[in-house]
Amino acid sequence: MRTQIAIVGAGPAGLLLSQLLHKGGIDTIVLERRSRTYVEARIRAGVLEPGTVDLLTHAGADGRMRREALIHDGLAIAFGGRIVRVDLKALTGFPVTVYGQTEITQDLIAARLGHGGKLVFEAENVALEGFDGAHPHVSYESGGQTHDIACDFIAGCDGFHGVSRSCVPGSALTLYERELPFGWLGVLSETRPVDDELIYSRNERGFALCSMRSKTRSRYYVQCPISDAVEAWPDDRFWDELRRRIPAGAAERLVTGPSLEKSIAPLRSFVAEPMAFGRLFLAGDAAHIVPPTGAKGLNLAAADAGVLAAGLIAYYRDGDRTGLDTYSETCLKRVWRAERFSWWFTAMTHRFDDDAFGRRLQTAEFDQIMGSRAAATAFAENYVGMFRAG
Ligand code: FAD
Ligand code: DHB
Repeated sequence: MRTQIAIVGAGPAGLLLSQLLHKGGIDTIVLERRSRTYVEARIRAGVLEPGTVDLLTHAGADGRMRREALIHDGLAIAFGGRIVRVDLKALTGFPVTVYGQTEITQDLIAARLGHGGKLVFEAENVALEGFDGAHPHVSYESGGQTHDIACDFIAGCDGFHGVSRSCVPGSALTLYERELPFGWLGVLSETRPVDDELIYSRNERGFALCSMRSKTRSRYYVQCPISDAVEAWPDDRFWDELRRRIPAGAAERLVTGPSLEKSIAPLRSFVAEPMAFGRLFLAGDAAHIVPPTGAKGLNLAAADAGVLAAGLIAYYRDGDRTGLDTYSETCLKRVWRAERFSWWFTAMTHRFDDDAFGRRLQTAEFDQIMGSRAAATAFAENYVGMFRAG
């Protein structure tokens, strides 16, 4: 078998890259370890920057999003009885779009298959070879048989625990990492959201986030010890804890119901540099992780896919290697902006045990956003992802 680009991983980065390359006349094969059902049901992020919406539009995978997504002009940050609304639209000119990663994944898979795209689900033991030379190839097992794909380039879009990054010699990568001592417990429920916009809430008991997927489906998160098991959080305990951590008005409006999904995600900051090695390009979570507070993970994955697709299209169309040679540098600028913002917003809103000094700093940070239009604008620019990279 032969293709131009072998893509490892059918998450948002791999699927969007495949679809953007298809639009540019470039052939790809996507290899995914999990089943289609599993990939299409996975619940993850929900807030899209305008740049991500543009890329999905460019990819021709925006039809359902245009009909079903919610447009949010602002969000609220609550802080021990006080609350500030950040008017994203007024401060930056841009709103954010609330639309689930689950839906994006379904839409991109439908778009790929609708155009005859080659997606291999349940591809086992994927192995990347020869990418430090001129003839890369990728092997995998499926249905008891081993297959081999020869290609021009490999895109490693297989997430934080994938195989691609670990194929790069350790001496060629520099890893930057910070772990946080807590996780997020997330619940999805078929209930009316407490508000029309998101509420990020810093509380003495810990952080909470009120989000949504539609006007009838809510997504809530509470900060919890990373050692907790989901079984320790029956629905009643979750709803009681959430109610205690969010502003009084929202708590009164909270409608509870059975959880459709409940999971605990670790919080971590991680960057692998560079994001390219020979003919292998890493994109999305395979190269970097942010704590979810800034809603940046999915948006960074989409941005990487956009930069890589543009570089590959210029290479095949005009023989211009510039976009490929600068891929890592271009992406890392945005990545580090998002790392900084996500770390800062997490530090401002989460409970860190026994840190009285830190708590005073959190209050000062909140006062700054509340009292300064410049500070609120800086926050809004980072949240909507509209800033000059240089
Ligand atoms: P992924 O979505 O991880 O996709 C990688 C794909 O590669 C997967 O389908 C995987 O099955 C496949 N794969 C892995 N290994 C192999 C292999 N060896 N061979 C073939 N295929 C392989 N971000 C937010 O902004 N907000 C959130 O609330 C949020 N919640 C999250 C909750 C969890 C539990 C996780 C893990 C992440 C969350 N994120 C969140 C982050 C966001 O979902 C990711 O940044 C985004 O999914 C990155 O997309 P990706 O395509 O790079 O990687
Ligand atoms: C959601 C997740 C986030 O991490 C975030 O910052 C905002 C919203 C969500 O899943 O809806």
